[in-house]
Amino acid sequence: MNPYEETMNLNQTVVTEFLLLGFSASPEQQILLFVALLAIYLVTVLGNLLIILVTLMDPSLHTSMYFFLSNLSALEMGYISVTVPKMMVSLISGDKHITLVGCAVQMCFFLCFGSTESSFLATMAYDRYVAICNPLYYPMIMNKKVCVLLAVTSWTIGIPAQVVQTGLVFSLPFCSSKEINHFFCDPAPLLLLACADTSINETLTYTIVIFFGLVPFALILFSYIRIIATILILPSDEGKRKSFSTCSSHLIVVALFYGSGILLYLWPQPNEFPENGKLLSLFYTLLPATLNPFIYSLRNRDLQTALKRNVWYK
Ligand SMILES: *[C@@H]1O[C@H](CO)[C@@H](O)[C@H](O)[C@H]1NC(C)=O
Repeated sequence: MNPYEETMNLNQTVVTEFLLLGFSASPEQQILLFVALLAIYLVTVLGNLLIILVTLMDPSLHTSMYFFLSNLSALEMGYISVTVPKMMVSLISGDKHITLVGCAVQMCFFLCFGSTESSFLATMAYDRYVAICNPLYYPMIMNKKVCVLLAVTSWTIGIPAQVVQTGLVFSLPFCSSKEINHFFCDPAPLLLLACADTSINETLTYTIVIFFGLVPFALILFSYIRIIATILILPSDEGKRKSFSTCSSHLIVVALFYGSGILLYLWPQPNEFPENGKLLSLFYTLLPATLNPFIYSLRNRDLQTALKRNVWYK
């Protein structure tokens, strides 16, 4: 229904809370979904926690690459904690309400973590680029100070823009409907509920996507073109294999993050989704956070050795 028509029907009621519709499933399906989410949540938190602990404990992992990796793990734990626990509570209690403030906080953290993640992926690509294309100067270029600076920048760079974006969404009047057809507070489904012109919000969203999505992606692409060009002219096969193995896990993580981002934002919006599509979009939202620790620990010998030394044999 056209929001303006409904406004007239409802006589300008002001929305003070939202309903996160999530999934319309039967009670059995809801329990199943709850169990699946709980399992995903626990695996994600424990896997990433393990990466952070082993990086802290093992001196052989005190290098920029692993510091950034453990930052990424901390980020993934935050990322999944913004959306999943709330979903589990509403699944189990059947209460789909979320306050305006709760919705704004969730959106703001989700967006900030998103831009932090793409900044970290670009930082990690740069780290690999220096390590492989400039190995002699690597320790000098990526010294402790530079690493801390890069980490702090990655954590904070998106915050101002995302706070403004969230503020602008919530300064819109919501007077038509309070039903968000999504499983968390994302800007796009909320803009559909606003009964005012949302063109400023849309412009800002595109600008942010360009700055915090496409620019880091271009940097990553550029780094990897240089990395691959360098690896190809390495004289020994052993050298080629070794150099490539340090960046292949990062490359998979990049592909997962951008792949799921593209699916989430460039594919039809959830409102146009059938229920199955919504469920699918939930899982690919969560996938990168859950899989990262496994991708790194399965493909990386140093990390495997450190895990054995510190965890399994203690
Ligand atoms: C994040 O990276 C910085 C800089 O390398 C490092 O000092 C810090 O310990 C890392 N934090 C975590 C939680 O791994």
